[in-house]
Amino acid sequence: MKLAGIKQPKTPRKRAKQLPRPFIFVNMAMTADGKIATANRAVSSFASPRDHEHLYELRATADAVMCGARTADLNKISLGTGGTKFQQQRLRRGLAEHNLRILVTGSGTLDPRAEIFRHHFSPIIILTTARATQMKLARLRAVADEVKVCSQREINWPATLRWLREKWKIKRLLCEGGGELNAALFRGGLVDELHLTLCPKVFGGRNAPTISDGGSVTRLADAAQLELKSVEQAGEELFLVFRPTTKSKLRRHSVPHATDGSRPSGRSTRARRQGG
Ligand SMILES: NC(=O)c1ccc[n+]([C@@H]2O[C@H](COP(=O)([O-])OP(=O)(O)OC[C@H]3O[C@@H](n4cnc5c(N)ncnc54)[C@H](OP(=O)(O)O)[C@@H]3O)[C@@H](O)[C@H]2O)c1
Repeated sequence: MKLAGIKQPKTPRKRAKQLPRPFIFVNMAMTADGKIATANRAVSSFASPRDHEHLYELRATADAVMCGARTADLNKISLGTGGTKFQQQRLRRGLAEHNLRILVTGSGTLDPRAEIFRHHFSPIIILTTARATQMKLARLRAVADEVKVCSQREINWPATLRWLREKWKIKRLLCEGGGELNAALFRGGLVDELHLTLCPKVFGGRNAPTISDGGSVTRLADAAQLELKSVEQAGEELFLVFRPTTKSKLRRHSVPHATDGSRPSGRSTRARRQGG
């Protein structure tokens, strides 16, 4: 479905076919002061119903939807399609009726009791590292369809993405945050498209998460360089689409991995933007 007043950007399917890894697009809602949740993580659902529809519309173009451990276990989400209407869109596009689901947990802290594991409509793949203990791996293997130990300490994203393309046939991968996972993809120059919904709210809070957290470049020259491909207004919100500049693509893997972020804790069951 096309959102009233929001022109959907053309999906670069040709490009996705050519890549040796999935085409990665990130979708986030952000306040006017750049936050994706309150500092205590109690509120991360603050966008309009239109944005919610937009989220499902984007999912309906993806082979798989991915999120980080905290987004998955602080929220009551299933990463599902959003219902029959979207499943039909998927089938018309030649996609599977349901998207695959990918969760990322480098040290295996993902809670196996999280809501997402109660929904059994499509495979759940967990990406982790050898930092996860055998006990944590065993617990996650009990609830997921595949637990992939991607490397010793940090996920080797280029290799892991090639594996996802080869083994699970993922051509389009939608990443829905949070900030820490997005940051790893930006750092690796692996984000092909950024969908950002700018919402008319201000949360404040030095420790409230943003769309890319965990580390910062220290020089302007190291920033991911994006160009604005489209901007649409619907109601009080702006729907923005960015893509990396050609120059930025050439600089892949050159950004240093600085660490200055503190990791949040705490959990909440309130409604979220993640859309179920
Ligand atoms: N407004 C929005 O659109 C939106 C969208 C999504 C999320 N959110 C909100 O954002 C908050 C969560 O964001 P967050 O940044 O704190 O968490 P996150 O990225 O969802 O999850 C962080 C955890 O995921 C794992 N992880 C992420 N990237 C990794 C990598 N490259 N390699 C290995 N493991 C990785 C780590 O798990 P281990 O600890 O196991 O190593 C890490 O502790 C929540 O409040 C959520 O509701 C908002």
